Amino acid sequence: MGYKAVYERSMADPEAFWMQAAEAIDWVKPPSKALFSDNSPYYEWFKDAEVNTCYNAVDRHVEAGHGERVAIIYDSAITGAKSNTTYRQLQEQVARLGGALQARGVNKGDRVLIYMPMVPEALVAMLACARIGAIHSVVFGGFAANELATRIDDATPKAIIAASCGVEPGRVVAYKPLLDGAIEMAAHKPEFCVILQREMGRAEMSDCDVDWSDFVADAPRADCVTVRGDDPLYILYTSGTTGQPKGVIRPNAGHLVALHWSMKNIYDIDPGEVFWAASDVGWVVGHSYICYAPLIQGSTTIVFEGKPVGTPDAGTFWRVIAEHKVKALFTAPTAFRAIKRVDPAGELLADYDLSCLKTLFLAGERTDPDTLHWAEDKLGVPVIDHWWQTETGWAIAANPMGVEHLEVKVGSPSVAMPGYDVQILDEGGHEVAPGELGAIVIKLPLPPGTLPTLWNADARYISSYLAAFEGFYETGDAGYVDEDGYLYIMARTDDVINVAGHRLSTGAMEEVLASHPDVAECAVIGVADALKGQAPLGLVCLNAGAGRQDAEVVRECVALVRGKIGPVAAFRLACVVDRLPKTRSGKILRGTMVSIADGKPWKMPATIDDPVILDEITVALKGLGLAS
Ligand code: COA
Ligand code: AMP
Repeated sequence: MGYKAVYERSMADPEAFWMQAAEAIDWVKPPSKALFSDNSPYYEWFKDAEVNTCYNAVDRHVEAGHGERVAIIYDSAITGAKSNTTYRQLQEQVARLGGALQARGVNKGDRVLIYMPMVPEALVAMLACARIGAIHSVVFGGFAANELATRIDDATPKAIIAASCGVEPGRVVAYKPLLDGAIEMAAHKPEFCVILQREMGRAEMSDCDVDWSDFVADAPRADCVTVRGDDPLYILYTSGTTGQPKGVIRPNAGHLVALHWSMKNIYDIDPGEVFWAASDVGWVVGHSYICYAPLIQGSTTIVFEGKPVGTPDAGTFWRVIAEHKVKALFTAPTAFRAIKRVDPAGELLADYDLSCLKTLFLAGERTDPDTLHWAEDKLGVPVIDHWWQTETGWAIAANPMGVEHLEVKVGSPSVAMPGYDVQILDEGGHEVAPGELGAIVIKLPLPPGTLPTLWNADARYISSYLAAFEGFYETGDAGYVDEDGYLYIMARTDDVINVAGHRLSTGAMEEVLASHPDVAECAVIGVADALKGQAPLGLVCLNAGAGRQDAEVVRECVALVRGKIGPVAAFRLACVVDRLPKTRSGKILRGTMVSIADGKPWKMPATIDDPVILDEITVALKGLGLAS
């Protein structure tokens, strides 16, 4: 069956389509039907099923005789550490950690916050929670204490599992002081913290901390706890318009079914093959495609700690692919831009045999044509852009390589995946003609695996996603479809920007800048950046009579955002302006400011740190009468 037939079947008879996909899952009690609409618009999939995600990701492979198959390959390009974990070893580690958590009173429905770098134990921690029915919430290591505190207060975890440190090129990032700072800031206090001590930066332990190795040493092995289909597996916070992140809920059953379906049909991976998602467990790509999907399917996943360049060189990705026989690599276009910049001729490729690699998948931000062509040319394999978001958990649009390799159109993540009725609407909610720009929406219900609502925030779920267009989920992206149904994602319609494939809120950065005592008002916009796709630019107006040097305030603003949101915000540039453009009613004209960047993505000659661009911005600001 080709793509068209598969897609049409999913739309014509979703019950039959998803119930058939559900046969790949080992249920404690199978679902009686797929979709439950009784609580709409909070749709639930496989709600009356009983299941355990960890059983499906680990135990069932051991029971099927694949215990010696490698589940996790760990490769730290920074420390040089490498290891393989078989499914049997993973089962033992996960069962022990689960048992230790249960022994300390963590049970079904309790939340556990995970703050870990890219080490296999991060996956063990996620799976241990899944095993005992606890709900994990992983926080990306590049976030600062303040962001961690917000998530602690929203998720109210009983326990936190963290590592003593992360390692970035050239520096050890001590996690423990950030964690301690966050707990101090938060109103909610976890009962205890489990700390994985890493040799390159051991943490000082306090009374409520327990060392991971002591914690699991004599722990009993936990059995898999049965949960209901709609019970949450995890909460993952993502950026919205304000500084308060949104807690996306991922229910167990729909996630199992959709992710399993995607591994063969989208990524063309079979059990036992090696799949590498070069992302981080702190992002949705890491949840779905470093941890859950490959393991649910019984393939081998790679936990990679490092960067595409500089650890030690721009051949690192090629080394990992060749050494571990990677069949498909999934990363963000930024990673390839970084490699291309350092090794434009792809000379380092000659050192490695990449015949194992069959496909490169890109997502997280728009794939620019230069990067697409460079990757196609150098790797000689199909390069597949696909589009999705934290909220959906798997691809909305893709080129389904396991179903049919469709034509690749430059600039498009291809076509809608099963269950996604993607439409382009104008402001009045009317569907626009092919080629016309509009808001990209998805007709409700969304397919399995997607969010049913936000953690503790049903009203915000409605106002953020469902209020603008009745009967539709608003993706927050704008774009168009062509005559062949190919989607083109052009821009966000909200205040979210995408920096190096990382989703960030300009609103959150504005809240931080506004807290500076000399800042009267401010705005943060995304401007084009040749490496990271977008970079944040802060525009600040100072209080009259502040009597401060502009450069001094700018330096403090940059430090403030780094300290409060974290280095991942990549906030390096701020300008002091005389005023911000406003409507008569005092609303800041964001569009006008974004036009400073002048819709020139991919045309900017260098990064935002480049003095030429700084000059360009200053000239543009002056042209708008915003700077003198
Ligand atoms: N813990 C602590 N700090 C972190 C971190 C972590 N887990 N991840 C990133 N940071 C820090 C970086 O060290 C950097 O700090 P600096 O300002 O002191 O240099 C800062 O956050 C910004 O990080 P980033 O934007 O990622 O820039 P980078 O220079 O470290 O790396 C790329 C640039 C392109 C190599 C990298 O972003 C990349 O590989 N991205 C694509 C893959 C990806 O992860 N995509 C996510 C979704 S698929
Ligand atoms: P996240 O929730 O962090 O995965 O970010 C999701 C957002 O990233 C989307 O809403 C888009 O704005 C952007 N995005 C993800 N994938 C793509 C893609 N293939 N092309 C263009 N934008 C993308």
